[in-house]
Amino acid sequence: LNNFVFQNPTKIYFGRDQLKCLKTGIPKYVNNILLVYGKYSIKKNGLYDKVLEQLNSIEVEIHELSGVEPNPRLSMVYEGIEICRRNKIDFILAVGGGSVIDCTKAIAAGSKQQDDVWESIKKLKRAKDGLPFGTVLTLAGTGSEMNSNTVITNWSTREKYGWEGPALFPVFSILDPVHTYTLPPLQTVYGIVDIMTHVLEQYFHEESNTPLQTRMCESVLKTVIETAPFLLKTPNSYELRETIMLCGTIAWNGTLQMGTCGSWVAHHIEHAVSGIYDIPHGGGLSILFPNWMEYVLEVNVNKFKRLAVEVFNVDPNNKSDKEVGLIGIRELRKFWNRLGAPNHLAHYNIDNSCIEGIVKKSMIYGPFGKFKRFYEEDVKELLRMSL
Ligand code: NZQ
Ligand code: ZN
Repeated sequence: LNNFVFQNPTKIYFGRDQLKCLKTGIPKYVNNILLVYGKYSIKKNGLYDKVLEQLNSIEVEIHELSGVEPNPRLSMVYEGIEICRRNKIDFILAVGGGSVIDCTKAIAAGSKQQDDVWESIKKLKRAKDGLPFGTVLTLAGTGSEMNSNTVITNWSTREKYGWEGPALFPVFSILDPVHTYTLPPLQTVYGIVDIMTHVLEQYFHEESNTPLQTRMCESVLKTVIETAPFLLKTPNSYELRETIMLCGTIAWNGTLQMGTCGSWVAHHIEHAVSGIYDIPHGGGLSILFPNWMEYVLEVNVNKFKRLAVEVFNVDPNNKSDKEVGLIGIRELRKFWNRLGAPNHLAHYNIDNSCIEGIVKKSMIYGPFGKFKRFYEEDVKELLRMSL
């Protein structure tokens, strides 16, 4: 293992009716809150009213920033920073999925620094200081509720990049599975694909002696695989929503990556794709990730074989290791397709003519990723495989 320091300060309030913990989660000194949310869902399903009821029971002034879009925009971040500065906001509350939370994170850090947010993101400066913020999660998927990452899209340049730093950990996150009941089936599926991909990005690494990490990853994957099909049939099952929600948080809060460095190649390329074409992150991953697996299979055939046998119950008898690995990848593809996720970029009208643009955006920092380092030619080939 690599030496590592692990600290995750986010407090999780998990379970039914935990929204009432908003009152304890928000620090006592807070006077002015900025409430950040998306376009329609929380007003439609009543969560907005419930959040306001809680906030009104503590003595705070509430300001609002609504309409955060999927693949959250830099312009919205600037708007939020402006509101924070003008109104002396001392706490931000995000109510929504990964996009609302990510927008909130960038606002929180951006309003405490002199430097322009986008400059900091592009220069890979860590976000070290920021306003405190909490979240009420409504979509299980990104893990943003308990990690120190945000992903922001600059729509004027069609660029989408991640930003990281200790200031981007929420103070608390409220995870009530009931808040995810109203998700459209496809959003639930995208979340599931995202969760599984986060685990898999970390499963394939270059470090050795990781028996625990490997088994933890396999456990999360097996749990999602046995839960997801039933969840889509019974979207209001508390138990199934609960399982997926917990998997989503564990999948990308640092626990699975202790002492190792995951690949994150497919994520990096997906961000370039969704930054230009505004497609859902989970949809992009379900296309790119299995192709990435096939492309890098030879790097560690044994690990792919292990995944196939342990997670997808592939019978290894009378087959080469490579064959077993390939069957595992095919099983993953089939599983996602059966849930309704796409497997070709053509699904989003992305064709051969788009490759150059995507390659350019993903190569901004030069070759990237672990497990197998990706150069321009590799990105091109992966995209060709995904058309
Ligand atoms: O805007 P509203 O009306 O709220 O609708 C949203 C949105 O249209 C809807 N929705 C959310 N909760 C709902 C609901 N509809 C009904 N009922 C509910 N309970 O779902 C749609 C998608 O929401 P979004 O927040 O965009 O989805 P997700 O959570 O998948 O977030 C995706 C963003 O997160 C980034 C992605 O790149 C993408 O920009 N990621 C962030 C990461 C992080 N911070 O660590 C890691 C990930 O790998 C990912 O890159
Ligand atoms: Zn992701």
